Amino acid sequence: MEEADCITTWCDISLRQRFMIRIFSSEDDFQRAEQAAHLLKVPVEICEGKPLVESGFFLWSHSARLELGFESEGALASADLNEVDARIKSGKKSHLSRSIGIDKHGGLKVLDAMAGFGLDAMVMMGLGCEVQLVERSQVMHVLLRDALDRFSSTQSSSAAGVECGDVVKFIKNLTGPPKYDVIYLDPMFALRKKNALPNRRAQLLVRLVDSSVSEQSLVQLIKLSQRKASMRVVLKRRRTDPVALKPDWQIRARTVRFDVYRGLGEV
Ligand SMILES: C[S@@+](CC[C@H](N)C(=O)[O-])C[C@H]1O[C@@H](n2cnc3c(N)ncnc32)[C@H](O)[C@@H]1O
Repeated sequence: MEEADCITTWCDISLRQRFMIRIFSSEDDFQRAEQAAHLLKVPVEICEGKPLVESGFFLWSHSARLELGFESEGALASADLNEVDARIKSGKKSHLSRSIGIDKHGGLKVLDAMAGFGLDAMVMMGLGCEVQLVERSQVMHVLLRDALDRFSSTQSSSAAGVECGDVVKFIKNLTGPPKYDVIYLDPMFALRKKNALPNRRAQLLVRLVDSSVSEQSLVQLIKLSQRKASMRVVLKRRRTDPVALKPDWQIRARTVRFDVYRGLGEV
């Protein structure tokens, strides 16, 4: 039997883990669901109310958006464009903007190498950057494309590209003169035992994707990115996390910190 003939299929969503994913859609949002189904090679199941799923993750296309859910528990998650809009309106002085250099330079070319739900990328785009996104999880990639479609239908900017793949491979494949002024790295934060429950997006993301990244591989990624970025590499971390590699400077917010490294822009 062809994979797509099954009601559910295995979908490789991280290098280490495999989860079952199903896609549901209301009649009105079928086209949106079909695009996701095509990318993930799963059939669409028509469902007008919130799907009742006994095990695993699911995507639900409804009310002009695609959302991620897990079994029957809790709220669903997707990029909230009102939140993006509010962050864009708060302007170029935010911690993210200052770390990227948006407060000083216009039209920056940014590689958002771990794009997740794409919130940071859309904020950067809304503030005038040209952003290429890379995301390793296939399910997140599908959600990301949907969020970017919704975003570009309300804004004048759109993404330079959205790639599903591993960032190390992507960066190693860059040849010729530097294509990006800034490479932005936002890996998953390490899990903590005592932790206030993170927001719904983070709760689902941490279960969906492979969140482990060793400090050693992070250091290698920073150094690789430095070679390819002409201006900066920015690493987002929890405010209290140890330093992976001594940054050239830091920008500290209330709960997070941006470690900034000078780009070497090697040809
Ligand atoms: C904390 S989230 C990023 C959140 C994002 N900045 C936002 O605003 O929504 C980290 C993301 O990086 C992705 N990721 C982790 N390692 C990766 C890799 N080696 N290559 C590409 N993406 C990766 C994960 O799948 C996850 O979606």
